[in-house]
Amino acid sequence: MTYEEAASRLKECGQLQLLRFYDTLSANEQRSLLDQIERTDFSVLSALSDHASEKRGSFTPLGALTVPEIRAEEERFRAEGLKILREGKAAAVLLAGGMGTRLGSDRPKGTFDIGITKPLYIFECVFRNILAIAEEAGCCFPLLIMTSELNHEATVGFLTEHRFFGYDPEKVFFFMQETAPCAGRDGKLLLEEKWKLASSPNGNGGWFSSLVKAGLDRMLEAEGIEYLSVFGVDNVLVRVNDPCYLGAFALSGRDCAGKVVKKAAPDERVGVLCLEDGRPSIVEYYEMTDEMLTSRDENGELSYNYGVILNYCFRFSKLLRLAEQKLPLHIVEKKIPCLDEEGNAVSPSEPNGYKFETLVLDMIHLTDSCLPYEVEREKEFAPIKNRAGIDSVESARELLKQNGIEL
Ligand code: UTP
Repeated sequence: MTYEEAASRLKECGQLQLLRFYDTLSANEQRSLLDQIERTDFSVLSALSDHASEKRGSFTPLGALTVPEIRAEEERFRAEGLKILREGKAAAVLLAGGMGTRLGSDRPKGTFDIGITKPLYIFECVFRNILAIAEEAGCCFPLLIMTSELNHEATVGFLTEHRFFGYDPEKVFFFMQETAPCAGRDGKLLLEEKWKLASSPNGNGGWFSSLVKAGLDRMLEAEGIEYLSVFGVDNVLVRVNDPCYLGAFALSGRDCAGKVVKKAAPDERVGVLCLEDGRPSIVEYYEMTDEMLTSRDENGELSYNYGVILNYCFRFSKLLRLAEQKLPLHIVEKKIPCLDEEGNAVSPSEPNGYKFETLVLDMIHLTDSCLPYEVEREKEFAPIKNRAGIDSVESARELLKQNGIEL
């Protein structure tokens, strides 16, 4: 892209300020800036003016396959799931492109050490859990790891150094998600350096399109994959593609499944699997009315009772059909280190702008049917979002201990 082409593109979307320091840059820096402008998706800015995407439909409850129901059918589900795993029809995608800002470390979240008497990395817990399932089935399934350009090298280096904690390296594949530009409160995109746009990973919703861009859909197709799970990096008790879950999902005939846990309290801050205008969907806790939060069914259980834990499984054929559909863009307020109009570096202590994200949970609404699959929270849900308090290193350590893991 030439300077003139960049200027004309930026003028069209009111972002000429990005070229403010162009004349002061070296030839390499100029090239780098023009390349970034060429690669940038300016359409994210429409999210700032287009509030239509925030309007939600009408919600109704969606019952889950409950723990007692699963127990009653365990043998049948497990046999079906083991067959799927042994026939090599399942794979999983680990979402590890996030910034983990709440944890306050500038290393990839998975490399965080939560051990007490010896090192115990978040990735180690995740890989151990996956390995246990692979051992049960007698074979490893393909594990695709999504990183971002900000943490790719550090993630690959760490996992290679630790030999994937015993997982078959031939079954591990990496791909990178895209980044999205960050805007100030006035809607103007920000510069991090005179030659570099401020940007941030574009959320975990772009995982499938990034995977396709990396050509990994062809690999999965060639392998004969029929079930593809997607899960977050920060649940140290995560169980992905366990046979009983896979089997229950496959036999249900639904498009996707999501592991859920019973809410700990009516106002727990968790997204709930439900129906929106008759289609599966996830309603966030802050979108629920008081009535939705407290209403109960004929058994006295909360009507909106099942919180999602970022562990979904899709039929691969369905995903290929969904790939073209747009997901809503979410605007997140953020502290964005940037340059002011004079080119001085600013490190804000309060949010000064917005990042743009799509979310994997919005994919559920694109499917026709979803199986909420209840798991026991104490056994499968120990998220690490913060250093202390709720969903923290402390709370996860406690849950790991309860599950017999030495720290
Ligand atoms: P979170 O929403 O907890 O975000 O991610 P985060 O970036 O890890 O942490 P904070 O909010 O900055 O503290 C949930 C899951 O989605 C992945 C994360 O790696 C985590 O597994 N994720 C998130 C991505 O892969 N890409 C993204 O752009 C954002």
